[in-house]
Amino acid sequence: MPRSVLVHSPATLSNLGCGFDVFGLALAAPYDVIRVTRTDEPGVRIQHLDSYNLSTDPLHNVAGVALLAMLEEVPETMGFDVEITKGIMPGSGVGSSAASSVGAVVAANVLLGNRFTKMQLVNFAMEGEAVASGARHADNIAPAIFGGFTVVRALEPAIDIIALPAPPLWVAVVHPQIEVKTKDARKVLPTAVPLGLAVRQWANVAGLVAGFLTADYDLIGRSLDDYIVEPARAPLIPGLAEARKRALAAGAIGGGISGSGPSIFMLNRTEETAQAVGAAMGSVFAEFGIEFNVYVGPVGTEGARVVG
Ligand code: HSE
Repeated sequence: MPRSVLVHSPATLSNLGCGFDVFGLALAAPYDVIRVTRTDEPGVRIQHLDSYNLSTDPLHNVAGVALLAMLEEVPETMGFDVEITKGIMPGSGVGSSAASSVGAVVAANVLLGNRFTKMQLVNFAMEGEAVASGARHADNIAPAIFGGFTVVRALEPAIDIIALPAPPLWVAVVHPQIEVKTKDARKVLPTAVPLGLAVRQWANVAGLVAGFLTADYDLIGRSLDDYIVEPARAPLIPGLAEARKRALAAGAIGGGISGSGPSIFMLNRTEETAQAVGAAMGSVFAEFGIEFNVYVGPVGTEGARVVG
């Protein structure tokens, strides 16, 4: 069994429009690079090899919390040294915290002879999400572990995740440099939903799953719309409506807020369109004088993977 394992753990889109806390999609890039080394010393020690100044206290670090949850299920006296190089900017809305907690538990599981199932790894990694956002949600964790398109059907009484292949898609993401904390973006959500809106929403949820399974891009485009969460969060992201308008004009299939924001994602049929859509969305924030990054890449068919 190796003593040290290196993992690439990808960015992910969560919600995917209508599927709040349920749908997720893995991206091929960007990804966090995480090395975990097994030691005889109990506990978790974290080192960051990047410049984001994230906490190295394992109780306040998503990877640390996830590994401590895992160690509670390990009878041997042992611990982990962790080196994290973030390729995903924290707070961007493309699953940065999930990537770190998933990368850590996937690497540690290899060091333990793969004794835990993927569903158990989801459970450990979710402890990290609880620290990051105040809520146990698995919609970024699931695609980071399984790859492709994922449906978190239930967390209770048992974690039930459905992993489906995604059709070939190119994703364009614009990340305006404004701060939207997941905790705050969850506070603005409605606590009750009128039945008529709920019906429209779950019709889209069904349409989106069918669209993914049959590679029906028009159906995917028609089904992405979110009538419940996005209207509540839209005021947190100036430029959202204009970015969507320009993205659709540039040929995007459809999109919306990426996770809890501030990033906006658009799905596209080709790389060329995705590049044009990324540029079109970026132009909105350039006009607003807001700094932004654009990512363009294919859907990730696999989740976190061992590379050394
Ligand atoms: N589903 C979560 C939310 C994702 O929208 O709050 C947060 O990254």
